[in-house]
Amino acid sequence: MEDRIRIRQLAEHAGSDVVLCGWVRQRRSSGSKLHFMQIDDGTGRVQVVVKKGNVPDEQLEAAGKVPFESTVIIRGSVKEDARQLGGIEVAATEFQVLSAAVGEFPIGKKEHGVGFLMDNRHLWLRSRRPQAALRIRAEVIRACREHLDGRGFTNVDAPIFNSSAAEGTATLFPVEYFGETIYLSQTGQLHMEAAAQALGDVYCFGPTFRAEKSKTRRHLTEFWMLEPEMAFADLNEAMDVMESMIGSVVERTLTNCRPELDALERDIAKLEACMPPYPRISYSDALERLKGTDAEIPWGEDFGAPQEDAVSAGFDKPILVHRFPTAIKAFYMKPDPDQPEVVLGCDMIAPEGYGEIIGGGERASDLAYLEHKIAEEGLPKEAYEWYLDLRRYGANPTAGFGMGLERVVAWMGDLGHVREAAPFARTMSRTFP
Ligand code: 4AD
Ligand code: MG
Repeated sequence: MEDRIRIRQLAEHAGSDVVLCGWVRQRRSSGSKLHFMQIDDGTGRVQVVVKKGNVPDEQLEAAGKVPFESTVIIRGSVKEDARQLGGIEVAATEFQVLSAAVGEFPIGKKEHGVGFLMDNRHLWLRSRRPQAALRIRAEVIRACREHLDGRGFTNVDAPIFNSSAAEGTATLFPVEYFGETIYLSQTGQLHMEAAAQALGDVYCFGPTFRAEKSKTRRHLTEFWMLEPEMAFADLNEAMDVMESMIGSVVERTLTNCRPELDALERDIAKLEACMPPYPRISYSDALERLKGTDAEIPWGEDFGAPQEDAVSAGFDKPILVHRFPTAIKAFYMKPDPDQPEVVLGCDMIAPEGYGEIIGGGERASDLAYLEHKIAEEGLPKEAYEWYLDLRRYGANPTAGFGMGLERVVAWMGDLGHVREAAPFARTMSRTFP
């Protein structure tokens, strides 16, 4: 629309006449001659005053009964008013209803259960909390991309339809593909290893899928993963990049998303404590810390949420746990030459109970070792021949990692559950709306 001003930019137009479009989020009247409403156009909210004498009478009447979430077009003058939201108020000279909402908006002021809100996610998105969470998500994505792009990484994307598994066959989603069974991608890593041999430092960023039968606050069936892969890098370099990238995510979220963090009532001090460096501890050291607690496990067992929480509780920032037992980790991880019972892999665990946000490490580069692992895990060798080619033609040390976007966003905003970090979360029990 010609001359339309976005609410975010209103302050720059103080003293001028503008045209605004938006939805009526709140309304109250002082008799029949004065109506106040909160208009939101997605970029911000502003109070609009519709007063008798300033607008034609039929528009005044319409303003007194316009239902919530109706779409309106307003012409008016922008006034500075320190008491109002954003220090601005608009005095309407024209008030038009473009589309009156049909009936009562399902999401009101009263407390709704999260099931109801998720069923109405397409409408719930308009509320302040989802708005803030999704803006933080966009900032986290920008921070990661700019961090990697600024260090010379090339963004190369990975396919979603695949004929092989990389993260275990138990969590594959099969897809009927022209009479054959293939799978939705669990990770872009194997393809990024190929891309790293062509382009050096690369990353992919896209949706990944896990048929995980876990109903926890950390698990989605569809989530976005950012996966850097670096030719000629080792575990330590991978940990350095994880650390600096998450450091820049924290810093940029604090700098650029302050209104959103405030809307979510996020404890800022806890996030401010999360600047690098991050403690690096081995799996074996972590087990020592668990001794005598409820989360104690014997050497060789994998971490679950109780172990992640108990280990990270001793720190007020993310930690890097490295050198997990070889037997519990993926086939592609490189055993530590000094102690082959552990791999050169690493998880980053976020504080405040947000769990594992990154998994990665150094890749096995030895052809014979990988052939042995693929056979040992009973994986179909044909499906991995192309991956083994990467070791046949110029095997090199490679390291990388995958960051779960929704887990990082949930932690940034202290959202409590990953479902609020995705625009339309997909879980075991939800593929709607
Ligand atoms: O630890 P994961 O399984 O590692 C990989 O997939 C590697 N191939 C990545 C790589 O090295 N390029 O997954 C990586 C991250 C986890 O740390 C977690 O943050 C997130 O992806 N993640 C999930 N997030 C939400 N729901 C799930 N079901 C997730 N599974 C993993
Ligand atoms: Mg992992």
